[in-house]
Amino acid sequence: MQEQPFPDTSSRESTDTGGGLDYSAFGARLEVPAINRLMSIPSEQPEVLSLAAGFTDNAVLPHELVSDVVARLCREGSPKDALQYGTTQGRKGLRDLTARFVASYEGEKPEAILADRTFITNGSQQALFLAMRVLCDPGDVVFVENPTYFVFLSMLQGMGVEPVGIPVTEDGSIDGAAFDALLRRMEVDGRKARTKAVYVMGYYANPSSRCMSLEDKIVLARTLRTHRMRIPVIEDAAYRELAFGRPWSVPGVLSLDAFEGFPLLYLGTYTKPFATGLKVGYGITNHTEWMQKMLFAKGNQDFGSAHFPQAIVAQVLRDGLYPGFVRDLGLHYGAKAGLLDSVLRAEGLDRMGWRWARPEGGLLFWLKAPAGVDTREGSGFYQACLKHQVIYVPGNLCFANGSPSEYIRLSIGALPNEKLEEAARRLCDAARNL
Ligand SMILES: Cc1ncc(COP(=O)(O)O)c(C=O)c1O
Repeated sequence: MQEQPFPDTSSRESTDTGGGLDYSAFGARLEVPAINRLMSIPSEQPEVLSLAAGFTDNAVLPHELVSDVVARLCREGSPKDALQYGTTQGRKGLRDLTARFVASYEGEKPEAILADRTFITNGSQQALFLAMRVLCDPGDVVFVENPTYFVFLSMLQGMGVEPVGIPVTEDGSIDGAAFDALLRRMEVDGRKARTKAVYVMGYYANPSSRCMSLEDKIVLARTLRTHRMRIPVIEDAAYRELAFGRPWSVPGVLSLDAFEGFPLLYLGTYTKPFATGLKVGYGITNHTEWMQKMLFAKGNQDFGSAHFPQAIVAQVLRDGLYPGFVRDLGLHYGAKAGLLDSVLRAEGLDRMGWRWARPEGGLLFWLKAPAGVDTREGSGFYQACLKHQVIYVPGNLCFANGSPSEYIRLSIGALPNEKLEEAARRLCDAARNL
């Protein structure tokens, strides 16, 4: 047997000195995020199939492509700095190529998407955190879509920031009149003055998989402008590249005249649409001072994201391989979405009163349960799913005020096809036997 060079430290029997620390207000506010609870279930009970995890599909991660690029980077040693520290803002080559890629989408204005206002982060999640960290104090308010990305809600909770849902109509479009009325009320109760930013997802949103129409974006800008609120608008485009067919044609906020004069931040990532584990994300802004603040915060935290993953992504972009890769990926996830949709229908979930729209991009299905079915953690439906060995994300986690409680989010990402089918059948069994 090969001798281990280091002592075995896997024993869990050592004493834990935990408890009773005098945490900062920030530390004290932090709770176990819902995501950790959900994600721990399949690792503790491997027979449970997870439709909750927002992971990508191992089958389409670019192992060969990355291995080829890594070999070239190491063999040729060119660029020579790939294994060195980089700058806090990120590799210049990657920033150039990223800005060009985003600017290549239909309707985008290249003059609004600049490499020197682009910064590279440890996933777009870090950019989101930095943006909030430098803008918000406890007690501040941020507008979000309803429903929204639940990890963002948990981030706000940790920062003591209040999320307020932007009112929407039945079909999910922004309801300008109701938003206007809300802002009037918030003027009176003092929350308007404490509102620091707006957070929206223009493309295949998490969890709804909805894209924002041009009208949605215009109504958003117009309503804020009417109330003299030139507050930062953050557009999270984490799923933009994952279109199952033609990319959604509405440009990002940076390119829209409607947002002229607003501080803007567009967030993108190479995790969902390329090599998830490299954890390379980015932000592009029109506001240099805001970017500098975020970079000062990032400098204090890590003084730059890992340089080697940036070099890998830059090389793939430089080789011209990225657009084709994401097109194929879209087809793959489109087929998986078709599969999940057809199993749910074949099993009669729609006839049981459940409603959903088949997504046209992204990784997520957003389902509404029939009246009276509660889907929250610990509810009858949740327990029934656990009994049938399948889990989902309870929809209430995605709403600013924690309700309504009749939605669920399913992901097509992680499970291979046969397990995805099996998980869908289990979910339908749980719904049937409720
Ligand atoms: C809407 C949304 N934004 C941002 C992220 C963060 O992604 P990453 O940090 O991998 O770029 C995620 C991840 O699931 C997401 O769903």
